Amino acid sequence: MANFATLKLDDKEVTLPVITGSEGEKGIDIGKLRAETGHITFDDGFGNTGSCTSNITYIDGEVGILRYRGYPIEQLAEKSNSVETSYLVTHGELPTSEQRSRFSHLLTQHAPLREGMLRFIQSFPRDAHPMAVLSASINALGAYYPHLASNNHQRDLEHFDEAAAIAISKVRTIAAHSYRVNNGLPFNYPRPNLGYCENFLHLMFSEPYNEYVPTPEVASALNLFLLLHADHEQNCSTSTVRMVASAGANLFASVSAGVNALWGPLHGGANMAVLEMLKNIHDDGDDGTRFIAAAKSGKGDRLMGFGHRVYRNYDPRAKIIKTSFYKALASLNIKDDPLLNIAMKLEEVALSDEYFISRKLYPNVDFYSGLIMRALGIPLNMFTVMFAIGRMPGWVAQWHEVAQNPKLKIYRPRQIYTGATQRNYVPINMR
Ligand code: CMC
Repeated sequence: MANFATLKLDDKEVTLPVITGSEGEKGIDIGKLRAETGHITFDDGFGNTGSCTSNITYIDGEVGILRYRGYPIEQLAEKSNSVETSYLVTHGELPTSEQRSRFSHLLTQHAPLREGMLRFIQSFPRDAHPMAVLSASINALGAYYPHLASNNHQRDLEHFDEAAAIAISKVRTIAAHSYRVNNGLPFNYPRPNLGYCENFLHLMFSEPYNEYVPTPEVASALNLFLLLHADHEQNCSTSTVRMVASAGANLFASVSAGVNALWGPLHGGANMAVLEMLKNIHDDGDDGTRFIAAAKSGKGDRLMGFGHRVYRNYDPRAKIIKTSFYKALASLNIKDDPLLNIAMKLEEVALSDEYFISRKLYPNVDFYSGLIMRALGIPLNMFTVMFAIGRMPGWVAQWHEVAQNPKLKIYRPRQIYTGATQRNYVPINMR
């Protein structure tokens, strides 16, 4: 196996090292290319660029593999839960029972918000988008915990356990409070006796006269949703977190930037788009057949929740979430949901259609996660917020990886300038 690649530019030859990952992935290290040749590499949108080495998540999209810290997602989904998996993702190893209790205790301790934060969230207008409230509030945490937000990585890392627990616990409380603001409802206080998911559902839906108690199947569907979203290597929001962290920024500043990136419809908005598509199909009196025909012709919209930039096979998360979804539906007594029927029809038709087969378009995690959110009573504008709660452990872990890198350099991509060449200033009366 070659350890070097040779690049020929005019009559000059440069030798570039090839680096190999632990799963055999290969990359050409072009770090010295500019110094030696005056050239940079060009990769619009970073589709073929390895921006870092990382120990957190491994994906093989050709075969449909996803592993956190080496553990297959299928094993974690079956045997672990979202809190334990958060610890694994952020700390690198599965916790001992002592470490797990301490981590759970920290999450419980940090669930409530300070009074000032509550007033801050209350001050948003009723129609504020919950993603705006979430990113602003997570950034504001830095103001409440200055010892965790010194913008000196060495000092911030001394309190990493506390900062990680605050980010992972409070993202859920802030998210639920943003829903209460949207609905003009008073905030619920977190309950120390409830688990992570049960507490979130209580914060969202309990009323003074009616405490919300989810069925175990509903809590476990939410738990699975969060676990499956915990990390997904160098996607747009994660790369954003690492970019901000590379400047030396603290955890809260970095992960709130990740929330903003996720807000973009091309990233975190796909689960919402699936549900909107299903509603439109239903309102048009279609069973999905006309929609599929239009999608194939290129004249209609794409089949949302199908296809993936990295997975060219079934998204492993979609397979897992589908099973839990049916259990949650049964426990909620949802038997005949017209949108669900349309989704099933779309999936059945697409999986046996030459157009989708030849292009390797399979259901992705968003095809089912929107339906799960809907079954849990989560409103459409909160879907991306749910994704952010799930992704927080991944962002925290990626920040940590950047912060503790002794050879850290600020991320600073180059560009190929295509604007005007030098020209002389023209006075206003001559323009
Ligand atoms: N429905 C119909 N046709 C599709 C679809 C789709 N969902 N996705 C791709 N195609 C077709 C596309 O028209 C093209 O056809 P042709 O070769 O005839 O021109 C071919 O498949 C390749 O498309 P592409 O745009 O080059 O594929 P991509 O890998 O760049 O796009 C994607 C990946 C996810 C953006 C795309 O599949 C898509 O738009 N899917 C729907 C949106 C969606 O579900 N997004 C969620 C992604 S998962 C999020 C996460 O992991 O965080």
